[in-house]
Amino acid sequence: MLADDIRRTFLAFFEARDHKLYPSSSLIPPPETNLMLTTAGMVQFRPYFLGTEKPSHPRATSVQKSFRTTDVDEVGDQSHLTLFEMLGNFSFGDYFKKEAIAWAWELLTTEFGLDPERLWATVYEEDDEAEQLWLEVTPIPAERIQRLGKNENFWDMGVAGPGGPNSEIWYDRGPAYGEEGGPAVNDTRYLEVYNLVFIQYETDGAKNIVKPLPAPSVDTGMGLERITTVLQEASSIYDTDLFSPILDRAAGLTGRTRGASDDDDRLLRTLTDHARSTAFLIADGVTPSNEGRGYVLRRVMRRAITKARLAGVNTKLLQELTEAVVERFGHVYPELQRNSEGIALVAAREEERFTQTLDIGLRILEESIEKATDVLPGNVAFKLQDTYGFPLDITKDVATERGLTVDVDGYERLMEEQRTRSREVGEAGKVRAGAGPRIDVAPTEFLGYEKRTDTGKVVAIAKGVEPAASLAPGEEADVVFDRTPFYPEGGGQIGDRGLLLAADAKAEVLDTQKVGAAIMHRVRVTDGEIAVGMEMELHVDPALRTGAEQAHTATHILHHTLRNTLGEHVRQMGSLVEPGRLRFDFSHFSSVDPGSLSEIEETINTRVESDDKVTPFDTSYREAIDKYHAMAFFEEKYGDVVRVVEIGDYSYELCGGTHVPQTGHVGFVKLLGESSIGSNIRRVEALTGVEGLRWVNVRLREAERAAELVRTAPDELVAGIQRLLKTQKELERQIAAGQRSGISAAVNELVPTAQQIDSAQLVVARRTEEVGVLRELAVAVRDKIGRGAVILGTSGEGSVNLVAAVTKDLGVDARELLRPAAERIGGGAGGKPDLALAGGRNPEALDDALEVARQQAQGSLQ
Ligand code: SER
Repeated sequence: MLADDIRRTFLAFFEARDHKLYPSSSLIPPPETNLMLTTAGMVQFRPYFLGTEKPSHPRATSVQKSFRTTDVDEVGDQSHLTLFEMLGNFSFGDYFKKEAIAWAWELLTTEFGLDPERLWATVYEEDDEAEQLWLEVTPIPAERIQRLGKNENFWDMGVAGPGGPNSEIWYDRGPAYGEEGGPAVNDTRYLEVYNLVFIQYETDGAKNIVKPLPAPSVDTGMGLERITTVLQEASSIYDTDLFSPILDRAAGLTGRTRGASDDDDRLLRTLTDHARSTAFLIADGVTPSNEGRGYVLRRVMRRAITKARLAGVNTKLLQELTEAVVERFGHVYPELQRNSEGIALVAAREEERFTQTLDIGLRILEESIEKATDVLPGNVAFKLQDTYGFPLDITKDVATERGLTVDVDGYERLMEEQRTRSREVGEAGKVRAGAGPRIDVAPTEFLGYEKRTDTGKVVAIAKGVEPAASLAPGEEADVVFDRTPFYPEGGGQIGDRGLLLAADAKAEVLDTQKVGAAIMHRVRVTDGEIAVGMEMELHVDPALRTGAEQAHTATHILHHTLRNTLGEHVRQMGSLVEPGRLRFDFSHFSSVDPGSLSEIEETINTRVESDDKVTPFDTSYREAIDKYHAMAFFEEKYGDVVRVVEIGDYSYELCGGTHVPQTGHVGFVKLLGESSIGSNIRRVEALTGVEGLRWVNVRLREAERAAELVRTAPDELVAGIQRLLKTQKELERQIAAGQRSGISAAVNELVPTAQQIDSAQLVVARRTEEVGVLRELAVAVRDKIGRGAVILGTSGEGSVNLVAAVTKDLGVDARELLRPAAERIGGGAGGKPDLALAGGRNPEALDDALEVARQQAQGSLQ
């Protein structure tokens, strides 16, 4: 039985028993479940079990994609997986233990044809009723029913939610897999294939009962991969038709052979499982990051890449493997197909990014492993993480493979110290400004969210990289104040410009940048002197700031609208926010047609019109993501407390930039068009406010001028131009016809002038047509004379041209015919053997040249 048939058979069996078929829900569960990822078929039915919502039908069946992080480290062996498909049948206060047991038995022994002699059952140690029912409704003998404790036979979600005692059905794989004695003594030989949970309680997630639920219900789960392994009598989960095509692709890419060695098999299985979960997670909208489910995704991707590199495989893998996953599972999970380009894009990008980190990290790790005896010191793991972004999990993986453990406590201690340090720096400590000038300053207090003007004290000056005490008029340097309203460039928004004033000093601020925690003003002194310790007034250029704020708010609205219109796969890849102008790069797989672009533009302007509030606020990173589903695109950079910019009730972005207070202040957004700037990356440029209006006006004026030129009204410009084009076409047609008749007249004139030389004809003539026509004429005459050569010449002001055409049967090269004549007119001959051209600057020599050509031809034709 192929996996596709197993899925179909299971669902049909329960549909025939009045179960409503539900599609798999997303791997991203609803926030109220408190789960990071969907872990079982029952997750989407949670409210029905709890009684907080009523189902439309009391029975359900589904195949649910599920993800469990618990086994990640085990993946590579014969049976562990991260992502799996769970077949399930469910009752919401409808049938209970009896039907669940009877149907499970019937399905396994008839539809799936499993040998009843090989089936065992376990029940919860206190569940007499279940044991009794097994004996009543199935032929299973009492000695193949075993009782197990809470650990094994009581199920809950691992987080607060519905749960209850369960009963599992096990398949005996036979003596080749070890001792007999049932699942209670051997869980290798006996494989659990079907879990029937008798939902009766709300639990705390640690198998403690919180309260009984209103209606006894049933939640069952059968791992598709497991049952497929059993039915296909495969030696491992991976040797089933579910995985084979992906394993084969992995084998092809890595140059390894399935079954050749344990190491090869482990690598191929790891790649297969991880590529599978990668594709499924991305299809559901997870992107790699350092937090939450984004981290789960990043971890499986990075684990796969690392395992491959450690095995000496240096080719890129993930994109192609995820493609194999889409091919294998796309017909069951159409979201894979719909998002195939996004999956490829995200996979390729993460692999590219991580490979660089990995190469450096692995080198350092290798050196440290050489030196270590049993334990890899915590500071190595810390440095790898802190400096190179090389995750602890992978350090552990590699170390374990080399027989070492990692001093995780030491690592944690250093991480904690690091956190404390950065908190102190944030509060009062000194920071050394990173790559910029060598000055030590306290972090600058930023006032720019509230103010555009305030006073501040000069705390440092840097000329180039050197600290300085003062600046003279005309000098340009970097100045740091204790506090400032100037926004330093960041998040795409350009740095503020403006003015610095003191009683007897004045300076322009040309740019503002952040270096470490210091805000640096690039300053040119216009009057007086600026010195450390001085109090100054700081004035941000209000027009520039307002322009940037308009463009920044417009960028958020644009981002939101693009995601709404084009799809959730749209991700910000980069942005530039300048006064009145923005540029926004994003992932998308095709060009955005002008119709959609206009629609997007209209939506944006409608949002502007509705004058929604723009509300920045601080919150925890977790809350930003979980509660507000804020879009955070460069997560690595964000600390614990983050600033979210909320627009209306629709856009939430992690953003440190400045914004207008209400969307109405944006005024107007004009999209200038859309283009490709790389594979699957598009760019939109736009103007905001008056800048947008100016652009439109310039275009309108151009259109008016064009209309004047074609003598029509501006709104009939296109019709006017069409009329002109039509006239032009007609004229061209007439000219071409005229030329054709001119040529045919000329041919008739020239052919009779042919001179017979042996069996060939020679025509030589001086003409007045321009050279293009001359060529056509030469060819037309040649075609008339049968066998021979035609040489024509023409002259214009300061130019002279010769054309020679010969029939092929002559065996004479037309270029050779022209060569001596070309010298006379002061040029060279080129072209093809049957049609040559010569040009020169010496018109007076034309007759002479024609005569030379004639003699040359006479010689050649004889
Ligand atoms: N919820 C149970 C499990 O996950 C049965 O579906 O095993």
